[in-house]
Order: sequence, then structure tokens, then C-alpha cells
Amino acid sequence: MAKQQSFSSRYGPWALVTGAARGLGAEFSRQIAAKGINVVMVDLLADELARTAEDIRKASGREIVTLTVDLSQPDFIEKIKQRTDGLEIGLLVSNAVYGPVGKFLERGLDEKLRSIAVNVRAPLVLVHEFAIRMAARGRGGIIMVSSASAMQGTPYVANYAATKAYNLILAESLWVELREKGVDVLGFMPGTTRTPGYMESKPQMERAKIVKVMEPAPTVAEALNALGRRPSHIAGRGNRLTFFISGKIMPRRAAIGLAARMLDKMYGNK
Ligand SMILES: NC(=O)c1ccc[n+]([C@@H]2O[C@H](COP(=O)([O-])OP(=O)(O)OC[C@H]3O[C@@H](n4cnc5c(N)ncnc54)[C@H](OP(=O)(O)O)[C@@H]3O)[C@@H](O)[C@H]2O)c1
Repeated sequence: MAKQQSFSSRYGPWALVTGAARGLGAEFSRQIAAKGINVVMVDLLADELARTAEDIRKASGREIVTLTVDLSQPDFIEKIKQRTDGLEIGLLVSNAVYGPVGKFLERGLDEKLRSIAVNVRAPLVLVHEFAIRMAARGRGGIIMVSSASAMQGTPYVANYAATKAYNLILAESLWVELREKGVDVLGFMPGTTRTPGYMESKPQMERAKIVKVMEPAPTVAEALNALGRRPSHIAGRGNRLTFFISGKIMPRRAAIGLAARMLDKMYGNK
């Protein structure tokens, strides 16, 4: 991002955030609006979306549009295109997720395919749609929310981790391709973060004391700060150190073993 340009002139006047009703998506919407950008908030949960949107509207004074859409549906983009017609979306945050926890053999194929629809197909379609428009205008930003589980095999969330690897690699690749068109792309890897989705997965935190849980606000602030500066970013200094060691120093087998031990402590009873 050119230093002299403000965040809102670089990535405004509108942002679109998926999975915006709660968790990191709500926090992305809040912080983006606080930076002077209007937000289209997309989620499945109509009531929670309306409540979060009203809070953000009051706090920021920005225009906030809500859109209840199921991203797993093949035609979801038509609803988004209809509602955003005439709005200049300068920032896309692809954040929504469907990622149940459990042993691969014990989970159904339907839910695995739903994860592919929400975590892979929907981000691809959204990026395809909005990157074309941003490139034509010569400016914009895209944040693809991945996960630290994208960096090595991660038992108990095997399919989820694989979908997150797709997002990371797509974002890093597009970081190069779209940069020359004036569009910044970031693959963002939160560490473990206290969100409703994470808490509902019922991690056994007392057994997994080595896991440092971050709060949504500093996590999102890191993502917005990293956009335009680098191709990907891991939130939290401790997480960056852990993944430097497991990604660059440890043999692959040992890194997968470390992830397996952490996940086993958190979810080993599932
Ligand atoms: N929290 C963590 O520890 C953590 C760690 C690493 C990466 N991440 C990543 O951070 C992102 C946000 O995670 P989070 O913890 O904030 O999740 P969250 O609390 O579960 O919130 C995700 C939101 O996405 C919505 N969503 C799910 N399926 C959808 C669909 N088909 N259509 C529209 N909206 C849908 C959810 O609605 P429902 O509640 O109805 O499903 C929910 O409001 C995800 O990409 C996740 O992979 C999180």
C-alpha cells in the first residue's frame, strides 16, 4: 500500500465481509467501518447479523448493509451481485467457515462437501468476481482468512485444514498476479482465537495449556495492518515463532506430530 494513501482511499468506499455476524468476521466489519469504509456484511444468521450490524452502524456512523446468504449454495453469488450492484467494493474479506471437528472416518461425506463449498468454492467465486472489478479500477484489497492449520497436516480437522491450505496458496499466488493491477492480496492465518465458533467446538483448554488463545480485536488489527505489506501473515508473535520452528526447522513428520499432539489434547475425546 502506498504510504501516503489512507486505508479508506486505498480500499474504500465499500468492503464486503463474509461470516460477518460474529467472531472474526464481526470484528473485521467493526474495524473496517472504524477506518471510514462502508460495509456489506454477509452471513447465514439473520438475527445475529442485524444486531451486530446495528452496533457497528451506531459506533462508526458508516453505511452498513446486511445480506443473509448461504455460501454453500451454488447460486449464492447471484444474490451478492444483486445487492452490491452499484456499490464499489474496494475490500473483500473472505472469512466465513464451516469446519466441524472430529476424526475423519467418523464424519459424514455431506459435511465434508459442505466444508468444500463454504471454505473453498465460495472464496474462489468471490475472489473471481471482485478481483476482476478491482483490477479494472486499478485498486483494491482482498483478505483470504486461512488458518495456521494450513501449514501442515492437522489431525482431527483434516478436511478443514486442507480447505485452509487452498485459501493460503490462492492468496499468496494472487499476491503476485494482482499486485501489478493495484490489488493487494493477503493470506491471513489466525492462531487459536476466542470466537463463538471456536468455543462451540468445545476445546478442552485445561488439557491444552500450551495453546495461547488470542482475542479477535488484536488478531484482526494484525490482518488489516499486514494487507499490502506481505503475501501472508500469522497472527501473534508466539504463533509466528511456533510456526517458524515447525515449518522451517522441524522435519515435516515432526511438525505434523506436534500439531497432532496439540489437537489431540484439545479434541482427543471426539
Ligand atoms: N477462531 C479460531 O481459533 C480460528 C483459528 C484459525 C482460523 N480461523 C478462521 O477465521 C475465520 C473466522 O472464524 P471464527 O472462529 O470467527 O468463526 P465463527 O465464530 O464460527 O464465525 C463464522 C461465521 O461464518 C458464518 N457461516 C458459516 N457458514 C456459512 C455459510 N454457509 N454462509 C454464510 N455464512 C456462514 C457462521 O454462521 P453459523 O454460525 O450459522 O455457522 C458464523 O457467523 C474462519 O475462516 C476460520 O477458519 C479461526
